[in-house]
Amino acid sequence: MVSVRLVNLTKRFGKVLAVDHLNLEIGHGEFVALLGPSGCGKTTTLLMIAGIYRPTEGHIYFDDRIVDDLEPKDRNVGMVFQSYALYPHMKVFDNIAFPLKLKKVPKEEIREKVRRVARLLHIEDLLDRKPGQLSGGQQQRVALARALVKEPDLFLMDEPLSNLDAKLRVEMRGELKRLQKDLGITTVYVTHDQLEAMTMADRIAVLNHGRLQQYGPPEELYRHPVNMFVAGFIGTTPTNFIEGSLVVGDPPRFEFDGVSIPLPGLELGDAPSRVVLGIRPEDVVIGEGELEGEVYIIEPLGRELIVTISMSGVHIKAITGVDSGLEMRRRVRFSIPPERVYLFDAATGRSIL
Ligand SMILES: Nc1ncnc2c1ncn2[C@@H]1O[C@H](COP(=O)(O)OP(=O)(O)OP(=O)(O)O)[C@@H](O)[C@H]1O
Ligand SMILES: [Mg+2]
Repeated sequence: MVSVRLVNLTKRFGKVLAVDHLNLEIGHGEFVALLGPSGCGKTTTLLMIAGIYRPTEGHIYFDDRIVDDLEPKDRNVGMVFQSYALYPHMKVFDNIAFPLKLKKVPKEEIREKVRRVARLLHIEDLLDRKPGQLSGGQQQRVALARALVKEPDLFLMDEPLSNLDAKLRVEMRGELKRLQKDLGITTVYVTHDQLEAMTMADRIAVLNHGRLQQYGPPEELYRHPVNMFVAGFIGTTPTNFIEGSLVVGDPPRFEFDGVSIPLPGLELGDAPSRVVLGIRPEDVVIGEGELEGEVYIIEPLGRELIVTISMSGVHIKAITGVDSGLEMRRRVRFSIPPERVYLFDAATGRSIL
C-alpha cells in the first residue's frame, strides 16, 4: 500500500492541455474518485500515475519516492479498464494467472494465489471457463481478479463498471467498495458518474478542462461546492440556478424579475451585486411559503416526484412526496430555505459564501 502525491502534474498533447497543473494527495488505503465530464483529463491522469504516459510537467510521488522515471511494470499498480480485455482463448484461471506467469512466480504459488483471489471475488467455480462463457459481471470480476492477484500497492480503475447493466452496476458498486475496504489497497477510481463517485469514494477530486475544481469528502462537495460547476455536477437531480441581484439590507435579499427572496442569517461581506442563486431540488420546500408558481411538469420517481415549477420565466425543480396532490398547470406555493442556498459570483461562478 502506498500514498500518492501529484505535484503540478501536467499533460499536453500538442495544443491540447489535457491535465493542467494538478495537485492531489491520496492517503494510504484511501479510495479516491476522479470525477468529471468526458474529456476533462481523467484517463490521462490515471495513465500518468500508471507510468504509461509521461507527464509534460510536474511529478508523481509514491510515498516519498519520485516515480517519474519508473517503468509501469516497476510501479506495482493493478489496473482495470472499461473494456476489461480478457484473453478470449485462455481459461479464466490462466487469465488471472497471466501477470504472475510473466513474473515467473512458481507454479504452486500461482495456483494458490489465483484460488485465493477467485474466492474473494466469488468466481472460484468459473476458473475452467473461457471469457466468452461468462456474463458481463463475471467478466468484470475476472478482470478485477487479474489486477488484484499481483497484490498491487495501488489499484487504478477507469470506468470499470460502465459496460454493465444498471442493476449489476449498483451491485458491483457496493461489492467493489467492500473489497477495497477489506483489502485496504489505495485506489484511484475514474468515473464520469457522480453517483458512483458519491457512493464509493472517501474523497472525490472533481475535474473540468484538466483542472481540479474541488477535492474533498462526498458530503463536503454536496453541501459546500466551491463553484457552480461542482454544484451542478454533484447531485442526482441537478441544482437549480437563478441569476439575479443581491440587495444589501436586513435581511439581505435575492431579487430577479420582480421576485424577492429574503436570505436572513447570511453573512455577506463585499459580495458582488450580480449573483447566481443555487438551490438543490431536494431542498426546495413545496406546499407553503412566500413563493408561488405554476406546476409545469410532474415526473414520478416511485416514492418521490420531481416537480418543475414555472415562476417569472424560470423553471425550478423540486423533489417532493408522491402524495403532495400536485397537478399540472395548478398554482403551487413553495419556499427556498435560506440556509440551503448557494450563492455564486455571476461573473466567475465562484461561491461567495
Ligand atoms: N493520445 C492523445 N492524443 C491527443 N489528445 C488526447 C490523447 N489522449 C487524450 N487526449 C485529449 O486530452 C483530453 C483529455 O482526455 P482524457 O482521455 O483524459 O479524458 P477523460 O476525462 O478520460 O474523458 P472520458 O470520460 O471521455 O473517458 C481530451 O481533450 C482528449 O481529446
Ligand atoms: Mg477516460
